[in-house]
Amino acid sequence: MISDKKFYTRVLTKDDLNLVPELEEIAFKAQKDPWGTQAIQESFEDSYVLLGLFHYQKVIGFSVIFNTKFTTDLLEICLTPEFQGQHLGQLLLHNTLLKALEIGAKECFLEVRVSNTKAFNLYQKYGFEKVGLRKNYYNSKDGTPGEDAYTMQLPDIESRLALINLQDLNCK
Ligand SMILES: CC(C)(COP(=O)(O)OP(=O)(O)OC[C@H]1O[C@@H](n2cnc3c(N)ncnc32)[C@H](O)[C@@H]1OP(=O)(O)O)[C@@H](O)C(=O)NCCC(=O)NCCS
Repeated sequence: MISDKKFYTRVLTKDDLNLVPELEEIAFKAQKDPWGTQAIQESFEDSYVLLGLFHYQKVIGFSVIFNTKFTTDLLEICLTPEFQGQHLGQLLLHNTLLKALEIGAKECFLEVRVSNTKAFNLYQKYGFEKVGLRKNYYNSKDGTPGEDAYTMQLPDIESRLALINLQDLNCK
Protein backbone atom coordinates (compact mmCIF):
# COMPACT_ATOMS: atom_id res chain seq x y z
CA MET A 1 0.00 0.00 0.00
CA ILE A 2 1.36 3.44 -0.92
CA SER A 3 0.84 6.01 1.81
CA ASP A 4 1.05 9.79 1.48
CA LYS A 5 1.45 10.23 5.27
CA LYS A 6 4.88 11.45 6.24
CA PHE A 7 5.14 9.20 9.33
CA TYR A 8 2.89 6.24 9.98
CA THR A 9 2.90 2.71 11.36
CA ARG A 10 1.50 -0.50 10.00
CA VAL A 11 1.57 -4.16 10.91
CA LEU A 12 4.18 -6.08 8.94
CA THR A 13 3.12 -9.42 7.50
CA LYS A 14 4.93 -12.21 5.71
CA ASP A 15 4.52 -10.15 2.53
CA ASP A 16 7.04 -7.76 4.11
CA LEU A 17 9.78 -10.34 4.69
CA ASN A 18 11.88 -8.46 2.14
CA LEU A 19 12.22 -5.74 4.83
CA VAL A 20 14.23 -8.05 7.15
CA PRO A 21 17.65 -6.65 6.12
CA GLU A 22 16.43 -3.07 6.74
CA LEU A 23 14.99 -4.04 10.14
CA GLU A 24 18.25 -5.73 11.01
CA GLU A 25 20.18 -2.60 10.07
CA ILE A 26 17.91 -0.45 12.24
CA ALA A 27 18.39 -2.79 15.21
CA PHE A 28 22.14 -2.86 14.61
CA LYS A 29 22.37 0.94 14.61
CA ALA A 30 20.01 1.46 17.55
CA GLN A 31 20.70 -1.34 20.03
CA LYS A 32 23.66 -2.41 22.14
CA ASP A 33 22.68 -6.06 21.77
CA PRO A 34 20.78 -6.04 18.46
CA TRP A 35 18.42 -8.71 17.24
CA GLY A 36 19.81 -10.72 14.32
CA THR A 37 18.15 -12.08 11.20
CA GLN A 38 16.65 -15.11 12.91
CA ALA A 39 14.96 -13.20 15.76
CA ILE A 40 13.57 -10.67 13.31
CA GLN A 41 12.31 -13.35 10.95
CA GLU A 42 10.60 -15.17 13.85
CA SER A 43 8.71 -11.97 14.66
CA PHE A 44 6.75 -12.48 11.46
CA GLU A 45 5.22 -15.64 12.93
CA ASP A 46 1.58 -15.58 14.04
CA SER A 47 2.17 -15.39 17.81
CA TYR A 48 3.90 -12.01 17.45
CA VAL A 49 2.83 -8.63 16.19
CA LEU A 50 5.49 -6.70 14.32
CA LEU A 51 4.75 -3.05 13.71
CA GLY A 52 6.82 -1.01 11.27
CA LEU A 53 7.32 2.75 11.57
CA PHE A 54 7.66 4.41 8.17
CA HIS A 55 8.89 7.73 6.82
CA TYR A 56 6.98 7.85 3.55
CA GLN A 57 7.78 4.41 2.06
CA LYS A 58 10.96 3.79 4.06
CA VAL A 59 10.93 1.73 7.25
CA ILE A 60 12.74 3.63 10.04
CA GLY A 61 11.74 1.68 13.14
CA PHE A 62 9.84 -1.30 14.45
CA SER A 63 8.36 -2.88 17.54
CA VAL A 64 7.51 -6.46 18.44
CA ILE A 65 4.93 -7.67 20.94
CA PHE A 66 3.98 -11.14 22.08
CA ASN A 67 0.48 -11.64 23.39
CA THR A 68 -0.78 -14.21 25.87
CA LYS A 69 -4.48 -13.72 26.52
CA PHE A 70 -4.72 -10.48 28.55
CA THR A 71 -1.01 -9.71 28.74
CA THR A 72 1.33 -8.41 26.09
CA ASP A 73 5.13 -8.36 26.30
CA LEU A 74 6.94 -5.60 24.48
CA LEU A 75 9.98 -7.49 23.22
CA GLU A 76 11.56 -4.85 21.01
CA ILE A 77 11.17 -1.22 20.08
CA CYS A 78 13.78 0.75 18.20
CA LEU A 79 14.18 3.38 15.60
CA THR A 80 17.05 4.44 13.49
CA PRO A 81 19.18 7.04 15.32
CA GLU A 82 18.65 9.83 12.71
CA PHE A 83 14.95 9.86 13.60
CA GLN A 84 15.21 9.61 17.37
CA GLY A 85 14.19 12.48 19.63
CA GLN A 86 11.28 13.70 17.46
CA HIS A 87 8.51 11.91 19.34
CA LEU A 88 8.49 9.13 16.78
CA GLY A 89 9.44 6.55 19.40
CA GLN A 90 6.37 7.71 21.27
CA LEU A 91 4.25 7.38 18.13
CA LEU A 92 5.53 3.83 17.68
CA LEU A 93 4.96 2.89 21.33
CA HIS A 94 1.48 4.42 21.27
CA ASN A 95 0.43 2.55 18.15
CA THR A 96 1.98 -0.67 19.45
CA LEU A 97 -0.09 -0.41 22.63
CA LEU A 98 -3.19 0.39 20.57
CA LYS A 99 -2.59 -2.76 18.55
CA ALA A 100 -2.11 -4.80 21.73
CA LEU A 101 -5.40 -3.45 23.06
CA GLU A 102 -7.14 -4.28 19.79
CA ILE A 103 -6.08 -7.92 20.12
CA GLY A 104 -7.27 -8.20 23.69
CA ALA A 105 -4.36 -7.22 25.94
CA LYS A 106 -5.14 -5.35 29.13
CA GLU A 107 -1.61 -4.97 30.51
CA CYS A 108 1.90 -4.75 29.12
CA PHE A 109 5.27 -5.89 30.50
CA LEU A 110 8.78 -5.09 29.28
CA GLU A 111 12.44 -5.18 30.27
CA VAL A 112 14.74 -2.19 29.92
CA ARG A 113 18.45 -1.75 30.64
CA VAL A 114 18.98 0.14 33.89
CA SER A 115 21.22 2.57 31.96
CA ASN A 116 18.67 3.27 29.21
CA THR A 117 17.29 6.55 30.53
CA LYS A 118 15.70 7.52 27.21
CA ALA A 119 13.59 4.40 26.96
CA PHE A 120 12.88 4.35 30.71
CA ASN A 121 11.56 7.93 30.57
CA LEU A 122 9.41 7.13 27.56
CA TYR A 123 7.89 4.15 29.36
CA GLN A 124 7.29 6.18 32.52
CA LYS A 125 5.60 8.86 30.45
CA TYR A 126 3.26 6.13 29.27
CA GLY A 127 2.45 5.05 32.81
CA PHE A 128 4.74 2.03 33.03
CA GLU A 129 5.86 1.31 36.58
CA LYS A 130 9.03 -0.39 37.74
CA VAL A 131 7.98 -3.73 39.21
CA GLY A 132 11.23 -5.72 39.35
CA LEU A 133 14.96 -5.91 38.80
CA ARG A 134 16.50 -8.78 36.80
CA LYS A 135 20.18 -9.15 37.60
CA ASN A 136 22.60 -9.64 34.68
CA TYR A 137 19.65 -9.90 32.30
CA TYR A 138 21.56 -8.76 29.20
CA ASN A 139 24.44 -10.64 27.59
CA SER A 140 27.87 -9.11 27.86
CA LYS A 141 30.41 -9.55 25.09
CA ASP A 142 33.59 -9.69 27.22
CA GLY A 143 32.60 -12.26 29.83
CA THR A 144 31.87 -9.63 32.50
CA PRO A 145 28.45 -9.77 34.21
CA GLY A 146 25.68 -8.55 31.90
CA GLU A 147 23.73 -5.39 32.60
CA ASP A 148 20.68 -5.53 34.87
CA ALA A 149 17.17 -4.87 33.59
CA TYR A 150 14.17 -3.26 35.17
CA THR A 151 10.92 -5.06 34.57
CA MET A 152 8.16 -2.53 33.97
CA GLN A 153 4.41 -2.96 33.84
CA LEU A 154 1.62 -0.88 32.38
CA PRO A 155 -1.34 -2.28 34.31
CA ASP A 156 -4.17 -0.71 32.31
CA ILE A 157 -3.32 0.04 28.69
CA GLU A 158 -6.73 1.36 27.75
CA SER A 159 -7.14 4.00 30.43
CA ARG A 160 -3.57 5.24 29.89
CA LEU A 161 -3.94 5.64 26.14
CA ALA A 162 -7.16 7.57 26.69
CA LEU A 163 -5.11 10.27 28.49
CA ILE A 164 -2.70 10.86 25.59
CA ASN A 165 -3.49 12.86 22.51
CA LEU A 166 -1.14 11.94 19.70
CA GLN A 167 -2.08 15.07 17.74
CA ASP A 168 -0.10 17.08 20.30
CA LEU A 169 3.10 15.39 19.18
CA ASN A 170 3.39 17.04 15.76
CA CYS A 171 4.97 13.99 14.20
CA LYS A 172 2.17 12.56 12.08
C1 LIG B 1 13.92 4.47 23.12
C2 LIG B 1 13.43 5.06 21.81
C3 LIG B 1 12.43 4.08 21.16
C4 LIG B 1 12.69 6.39 22.12
O1 LIG B 1 12.30 6.99 20.91
P1 LIG B 1 12.66 8.52 20.59
O2 LIG B 1 12.02 8.86 19.31
O3 LIG B 1 14.13 8.70 20.71
O4 LIG B 1 11.98 9.28 21.81
P2 LIG B 1 10.81 10.36 21.71
O5 LIG B 1 11.31 11.52 20.94
O6 LIG B 1 9.58 9.69 21.23
O7 LIG B 1 10.67 10.79 23.23
C5 LIG B 1 9.64 10.32 24.04
C6 LIG B 1 10.05 10.45 25.49
O8 LIG B 1 11.21 9.66 25.73
C7 LIG B 1 12.05 10.34 26.68
N1 LIG B 1 13.30 10.76 26.02
C8 LIG B 1 13.53 10.86 24.69
N2 LIG B 1 14.80 11.27 24.46
C9 LIG B 1 15.36 11.42 25.67
C10 LIG B 1 16.68 11.80 26.10
N3 LIG B 1 17.64 12.13 25.22
N4 LIG B 1 16.93 11.82 27.43
C11 LIG B 1 15.99 11.50 28.33
N5 LIG B 1 14.72 11.11 27.99
C12 LIG B 1 14.43 11.09 26.68
C13 LIG B 1 11.26 11.55 27.13
O9 LIG B 1 10.42 11.16 28.19
C14 LIG B 1 10.43 11.86 25.88
O10 LIG B 1 9.28 12.61 26.15
P3 LIG B 1 9.37 14.24 26.16
O11 LIG B 1 10.05 14.66 24.89
O12 LIG B 1 7.94 14.68 26.21
O13 LIG B 1 10.16 14.59 27.38
C15 LIG B 1 14.59 5.36 20.80
O14 LIG B 1 15.44 6.35 21.35
C16 LIG B 1 15.43 4.15 20.44
O15 LIG B 1 15.14 3.47 19.45
N6 LIG B 1 16.48 3.89 21.23
C17 LIG B 1 17.41 2.79 20.95
C18 LIG B 1 16.73 1.46 21.15
C19 LIG B 1 16.21 1.30 22.56
O16 LIG B 1 16.84 1.69 23.52
N7 LIG B 1 15.00 0.68 22.67
C20 LIG B 1 14.37 0.39 23.94
C21 LIG B 1 14.79 -0.93 24.41
S1 LIG B 1 14.02 -1.34 25.97
